[in-house]
Amino acid sequence: MPKTATLKLPDGKTIDFPVLPGTVGPEVVDIRALYGKAGMFTYDPGFLSTASCSSSITYIDGDAGVLLYRGYPIEQLAQHCDFLEVCYLLLYGELPNRKQKDEFVGIVTHHTMVHEQLARLYQGFRRDAHPMAVMVGVVGALSAFYHDALDINDAHHRTISAFRLIAKMPTIVAMSYKYSIGQPFVYPLNHLSYTANFMRMMFAVPAAEFKVNDVLVRAMDRIFILHADHEQNASTSTVRLSGSSGANPYACIAAGIACLWGPAHGGANEACLEMLEEIGDVSKVGEFIGKVKDKNSGVRLMGFGHRVYKNYDPRAKLMRETCHEVLNELGLHNDRLFRLALALEKIALEDDYFVSRKLYPNVDFYSGIVQRALGIPVAMFTCIFSLARTAGWIAQWQEMITDPEYKIGRPRQLYKGATKRDVKPLDKR
Ligand code: CMC
Repeated sequence: MPKTATLKLPDGKTIDFPVLPGTVGPEVVDIRALYGKAGMFTYDPGFLSTASCSSSITYIDGDAGVLLYRGYPIEQLAQHCDFLEVCYLLLYGELPNRKQKDEFVGIVTHHTMVHEQLARLYQGFRRDAHPMAVMVGVVGALSAFYHDALDINDAHHRTISAFRLIAKMPTIVAMSYKYSIGQPFVYPLNHLSYTANFMRMMFAVPAAEFKVNDVLVRAMDRIFILHADHEQNASTSTVRLSGSSGANPYACIAAGIACLWGPAHGGANEACLEMLEEIGDVSKVGEFIGKVKDKNSGVRLMGFGHRVYKNYDPRAKLMRETCHEVLNELGLHNDRLFRLALALEKIALEDDYFVSRKLYPNVDFYSGIVQRALGIPVAMFTCIFSLARTAGWIAQWQEMITDPEYKIGRPRQLYKGATKRDVKPLDKR
């Protein structure tokens, strides 16, 4: 007997709704028929209790601190795979074997260059523009360059767009950085790995030889893996909602980048590092925690708390480990901000304010420190997040387009504005 949930309406009438099971995680009440049967909507600003789609890509158990991509724990993926294997997994549902991996890497590698005219687009931006502003513009403009494959109903076109986006994001991010500091763009090199290529495009200059540091490349690759997908977060939902109208994938990813930019989402690692700089010293941690706990101060402990994780974010643990590796490699084990972050974390984890609200470090708490140590300027942090998340966004977009239940996203509202009234002529208002 299929499970149902019964809703009792104010007039005493009851309606049964199907309860749908997932493979793991909470069941959902399928309320699609509610409006038709009761003339009512549900009210759920911020989607606190609403599943907006069904998906087979990423699973999070926020209470247990578990994150799985296609069933694989993030810890195992971070340890045994590289970012392109994870991209393949997100796109196709399975990890690649050797042959599949070589083919995939070959295709991605051969799509890393961008059209020369796209390179010229950068000159239209002010050099002091935030690189995320540039990213929104440049990624959105890709649809003007690659309109040979924009038919979203054509599986081959969708695949080419996915390859192009994953392949070109490092080039576009690095160009945004190079433009902002007035250095020449660095073209990709096919014999380098995806992530080594990115590091070279970011940091090489024509005047000097660039040496790839494997420890630092591995750290950056791990940042990519940890940020690759996170089920229906704000930016992914933005990509899906934009795509639900039939918009092309480049426009959808540009919309996702715009959403990611906000400080409550991808901008948090930038905000976290600024916060650490502001605190300045371990001796000031107590005073700062006091401000955070004072509701009138408006101060939050950035890099702490999460809508879904009510436990330690598993990505934060991995990122803290990477932080140790990178700082050791660079001889920075006494890094001031890292020491400060560790002290802040320790105090917060023992403080009842954070414990009672289940506020734990999230991925952004340590990722800013790692990126800063890698030489990445703060303003580029969210661009790097967008590079990594493109893999998840495009996988989720693909999944939506091929979902037989896919419909244009059209939330409803509880209207609280004026009731019908008449317009007075201008001189009578
Ligand atoms: N510092 C201090 N108090 C906090 C914090 C924080 N970072 N986060 C939540 N709270 C308090 C909040 O004031 C509220 O307290 P009360 O119940 O007394 O009113 C309670 O905890 C619940 O918070 P909420 O704002 O209702 O929770 P939410 O699920 O709407 O917000 C969040 C989640 C991530 C926006 C929030 O925790 C936050 O602003 N954190 C700091 C920003 C941050 O680190 N963002 C990165 C998220 S992880 C990266 C990603 O996946 O994009």
